[in-house]
Amino acid sequence: MQRTIDYIKDKIKDFKPEIGIVLGSGLGELADEYGDIRIAYKDIPDFPVSTVAGHNGNLVFADINGKKVVMMQGRFHFYEGHSMATVTYPIKVMKKLGVENLILTNAAGGVNPYFKPSSLMIIKDHINFMGTNPLIGPNDDSLGVRFPDMSEVYTKSLRKIAYTSAEKLNIPVERGVYIALTGPTYETPAEVNMVRTLGADAVGMSTVPEAIVASWMGMKVLGISCICNSAAGISTVGLSHEEVLENAEKAKGNFKKLVLEIINRL
Ligand code: HPA
Repeated sequence: MQRTIDYIKDKIKDFKPEIGIVLGSGLGELADEYGDIRIAYKDIPDFPVSTVAGHNGNLVFADINGKKVVMMQGRFHFYEGHSMATVTYPIKVMKKLGVENLILTNAAGGVNPYFKPSSLMIIKDHINFMGTNPLIGPNDDSLGVRFPDMSEVYTKSLRKIAYTSAEKLNIPVERGVYIALTGPTYETPAEVNMVRTLGADAVGMSTVPEAIVASWMGMKVLGISCICNSAAGISTVGLSHEEVLENAEKAKGNFKKLVLEIINRL
């Protein structure tokens, strides 16, 4: 970790990021438009490298309207075969760089039948259904406690800022519970029924590990899902990664505007 931090600090000098953003599938464009310093994951010592199409691998530092932001253009998924420690490593790096507010974004399937494809959902809570937990193992007491409280992972004040921002911009947003499964398979219709019964509004394959670790370390967390498709069985057609990226493309205008407004208000 020290080697990672030393390398990044040498590149960014006195730039101290206060806001971290993890950009999900098809939502990486923000880091193309803004970005004063760009570091490829592959150049960072001990940093993982992502393998999925649609996920670039860059750590991008930008001054956005006077706010110092670090963006992850591309994240690491459990289904890639990475360990939970690897998936959440960048979040620890962000914390060590000084990030206090973390915005996690993702592409998700809509489980709530009222959600339309290409809409945005503010995550109010999550269900960890990945069958493991990123905090399993010896606890690093310097970062957080052994048995962390998870009663407000997605910080209420940040959710409020998100709703106020959406209202100001006239962008309709949903709110709901995100459930994470490991993937890489999309769900069967029976599994979508199951997660709906469990109380989920959206289903995806990311975000929860990062949110758990960030919350454990005392970061404020905001989660935004792009509802890129109706989950299997809710829609009558089969799912494809291409459809997901296509709908992320449609949502990204609103997504970018919303995130920029939220950054302004943080
Ligand atoms: N299921 C799981 N993950 C997803 C989906 C989905 O329908 N869409 C985008 N990511």
